[in-house]
Amino acid sequence: MLEKLLGIFKNSVPVRDSWAEEPAKMATMVDFLNWFDATTSVEATVAKAQSDWHDRITAFSGYREMNKGRSLEIGFGGGRLVAQAAKDFTEAAGVDIHAAFTRTREFLASQEVPNTRLLHRDELASLHDGSCDFIYSFIVFQHFDTLEEVDYYLRHCARLLAHDGRCHIFFGRGDAGVRVVDAANFTKRACSLFIEPPLFRERAATFGLKTIEHEDSLRRDITKPEGSGNMSVQARVLLAHAR
Ligand SMILES: C[S@@+](CC[C@H](N)C(=O)[O-])C[C@H]1O[C@@H](n2cnc3c(N)ncnc32)[C@H](O)[C@@H]1O
Repeated sequence: MLEKLLGIFKNSVPVRDSWAEEPAKMATMVDFLNWFDATTSVEATVAKAQSDWHDRITAFSGYREMNKGRSLEIGFGGGRLVAQAAKDFTEAAGVDIHAAFTRTREFLASQEVPNTRLLHRDELASLHDGSCDFIYSFIVFQHFDTLEEVDYYLRHCARLLAHDGRCHIFFGRGDAGVRVVDAANFTKRACSLFIEPPLFRERAATFGLKTIEHEDSLRRDITKPEGSGNMSVQARVLLAHAR
């Protein structure tokens, strides 16, 4: 309570509260989708989702041959990537903390993908051990407010991942150790957690997840060459069970 009052005094925004509460305030479907990933139309969101899904999230060797029972997205937002996953998997599940799941369901219905399942963060325990063939997260870990939240999801990834499954996590790349932006310095939708890539991989290993692919530097726009104006804040790691 005192922290919240001090926050108002400093005109600061608590990171997690903003992700949880703002989406439900959006007037239209486009405003809603735009909150999670900049867009001007539903069609533009779908086109960008297709590109992110094919050219980034599933662009690793072995994806095609993987079992396609259940996928799980950490931080599904408006549902654009769940809609893509639903075309490949028997069930496309997702977990998030926002309070507008009805709106995401509306978007998924418009995409005609009934094989989806949305869970709140605290409902993850309802999924059985080893029941996810593919777990992925894109432009989400950089929006966490603590390193403990990274550990929370890595622990669940290790528990939920099927024996031969793959876990593809994109996260905010830091230069030294871990940097967390506090509420006083946070701007809505901006990144709040940056991790040095080797540290992220070490952390995953402590949960029994080995790195089988990684990239510490990614292009923002994959159709353009590498260069100072085209580097993403994200790094990525592809994980599997260590044994
Ligand atoms: C920038 S949006 C990306 C949404 C989606 N991955 C996409 O690419 O369209 C970030 C998402 O992370 C979610 N998020 C933030 N903190 C989270 C947490 N602790 N657990 C789960 N989801 C979280 C937000 O609610 C939001 O949906």
